[in-house]
Amino acid sequence: MANSDNQVINALVGLRDWVDDRFPLMQNWNEHLAKYYAPKNFNFWYFFGAFALLVFVIQIVTGIWLTMNYKPSAAEAFASVEYIMRDVSWGWFIRYMHSTGASAFFVVIYLHMFRALLYGSYKKPRELLWLSGMAIYLLLMGEAFFGYLLPWGQMSYWGAQVIISLFGALPIVGEELALWIRGDFVVSDVTLNRFFSLHVIAFPFLIAALVGVHILALHEVGSNNPDGIEIKKNKNAEGIPVDGIPFHPYYTVKDIWGASVFMIFFFAVIFFAPEMKVPGTQGLFLEGANFIPADPLKTPEHIAPVWYFTPFYAILRAVPSQLGGVIAMGLAVSLFLLLPWLDRSPVKSVRYRGTNYKIALTLFIISFLILGWLGLQVATPLYTWMARIFTVVYFLFFFLMPFYTAVDSDKEVPERVTS
Ligand code: HEM
Repeated sequence: MANSDNQVINALVGLRDWVDDRFPLMQNWNEHLAKYYAPKNFNFWYFFGAFALLVFVIQIVTGIWLTMNYKPSAAEAFASVEYIMRDVSWGWFIRYMHSTGASAFFVVIYLHMFRALLYGSYKKPRELLWLSGMAIYLLLMGEAFFGYLLPWGQMSYWGAQVIISLFGALPIVGEELALWIRGDFVVSDVTLNRFFSLHVIAFPFLIAALVGVHILALHEVGSNNPDGIEIKKNKNAEGIPVDGIPFHPYYTVKDIWGASVFMIFFFAVIFFAPEMKVPGTQGLFLEGANFIPADPLKTPEHIAPVWYFTPFYAILRAVPSQLGGVIAMGLAVSLFLLLPWLDRSPVKSVRYRGTNYKIALTLFIISFLILGWLGLQVATPLYTWMARIFTVVYFLFFFLMPFYTAVDSDKEVPERVTS
């Protein structure tokens, strides 16, 4: 090594030590990366936490740049978005990154949650990790809902009108609550202004803080894995789990590779299908009706939320009474919170679970997907009945779980992880 190289390295080590004497730099680096031992059998499903982090950063960065040209007022919002798309240098790119990022966030989060269902990652000792994840999920739904009003298109306006008026169905406090959320008797400039503030400041901060809690909770108990084995129970003489490998460099390299592949797909959508106009829809990521400015006097013929809310929207419409629908929808989202306690099986991973759970999970995923599709359609009598049937299937997954998991024909779990 040349002498000058040595000097540079010595200077960097000196700087690191200087910081380390004043801040727990190496302690945190070791605790969370270089000496955080993760199971060596992670698979494809373990990419999505890292992807969620990546998409979160994309949303924050593109959001900052969008805010530089966006105007949060009913008179200017729509035109300011058009201005960003047409006149601001690279504005279209930033905006499409943000709108595609919103959908990508939910794709990634749903797959991340599905992984937890596959491998029982919500079970003891990861209950708080799961609950912190659920809190993030609920905030993310709020974040997406607030953001959707900002372009002030027809679907922004009427979507918000429909969802906020649902609160009006609640007994006694309903109407007052809806009024309090809107800040007006209809969705208006006041609503837009407060949604902007919540979307840009309050919720991103809350989500960022909860992501920190999520990672801390994860590192306290350690990662689960596709075999559902606690690697901390089997340590060598140095106290290192025999089935663990340091997160850095092994999984940092794996995640950087995964993130690169993810970005290829992400940019393919941005460049070739930013509205995601799949047949039978007006655009899944950016809806056709939202290219028309909000008109408080003209209700669009067909109001549907963005795809990531449609399973719950289908459940809402499936129940004949409005209050019943609102309760069912709230329950459909919040029942996930109870999973750690509803699941009675001693086995975590689907690899060693009996047929009961496998069948239940398959039916649940099918019902979730079909409800999602139904929520995008105009509610004909046939579709409404289908939504009712799949709503029942959806809820049975949770309500019957304590029973079918308790008597399942689980297999024996091996001592060590399999490759
Ligand atoms: C901004 C959103 C989120 C971020 C950035 C995030 C990040 C992460 C990361 C980096 C991991 C470790 C890597 C991995 O296991 O894939 C992880 C694990 C986990 N996350 Fe999340 N997460 C988010 C949302 C959620 C949500 C919504 C849930 C569930 C409702 C959830 C539940 C879990 C669970 C149970 C684990 C442990 C999985 C295991 O060890 O098998 N997370 N998360």
